[in-house]
Amino acid sequence: MLAGKRILVTGGATGIGAATCRHLLENDAQVAAVGLDGAAGRALASELDDGSFLFHEADLTRDADVRAAVAAATDAFGGLDGVVNAAGIYPTGKRLEELSDEEWDRTLAVNLTAVFRVCRATLPLLRAAGGGSVVNIASVHAEATVPGVPAYAATKGAIAALSRQMALDYACDRIRVNSVIVGSVATRMTLDGLDEAGGAEAVGLSFSQDKIGRIAEPSEIAAVIAFLLSDASSFVTGSAVRADGGLLARLLP
Ligand SMILES: NC(=O)c1ccc[n+]([C@@H]2O[C@H](COP(=O)([O-])OP(=O)(O)OC[C@H]3O[C@@H](n4cnc5c(N)ncnc54)[C@H](O)[C@@H]3O)[C@@H](O)[C@H]2O)c1
Repeated sequence: MLAGKRILVTGGATGIGAATCRHLLENDAQVAAVGLDGAAGRALASELDDGSFLFHEADLTRDADVRAAVAAATDAFGGLDGVVNAAGIYPTGKRLEELSDEEWDRTLAVNLTAVFRVCRATLPLLRAAGGGSVVNIASVHAEATVPGVPAYAATKGAIAALSRQMALDYACDRIRVNSVIVGSVATRMTLDGLDEAGGAEAVGLSFSQDKIGRIAEPSEIAAVIAFLLSDASSFVTGSAVRADGGLLARLLP
């Protein structure tokens, strides 16, 4: 259900994005990963050594970089059938009144405006392909949150709202748009933050496989993203799909 699909994955060099690239390639898709971390992207490309994979280094806060990345993907694959917006940053430790304009703007630029720009550049390609699927990576912070992440929480709530809205505007083009409400995942983003917070247990998370609120492997989120990209989810659009290990279902730790 993914074979032959041409997918662009932002943030594809590391974490959830890289796991998504692996999953898609294993299912015979063609994948263009885009991201800021050139070293990680090149390492992934040389490890995968797959003619169906390319990495394009780009700072998605720059529209020219977004357009160049989309052009690289279409030059290689002749079009696009799906887009995953996984690039993001997670600045922590400041309440709203402590944030500078620059800190606020940077978080919105990476987590929200880049999604707008990537979608703006790729929707015509999905339409030209006869339809497609956009998967935007939101977070449990869209629905519940923790102290010290005002800009991050605002962007992730906006991603869920934007995805819902886009689903209405683009249904006529057979383009589905969904967000994923992701819980804690064992990637650089989370593991660095947990170290600063005193470890997973200190914030009520567990690595134990039998617990609600455990930390996910990136591959577990990639499987949900792949489902939303595939024809198996043909009737799913405008949804905020939770992949949070029950985190938001939990009343007490
Ligand atoms: N890890 C978690 O627990 C968790 C939970 C909920 C949501 N998410 C979301 O999942 C997504 C992926 O995060 P991850 O956990 O894989 O972390 P990660 O840090 O491994 O991935 C983020 C990627 O975004 C890229 N990026 C950052 N700024 C960029 C820019 N300006 N231009 C291009 N690329 C840029 C980074 O280079 C990196 O490859 C993010 O949107 C994040 O908010 C993660």
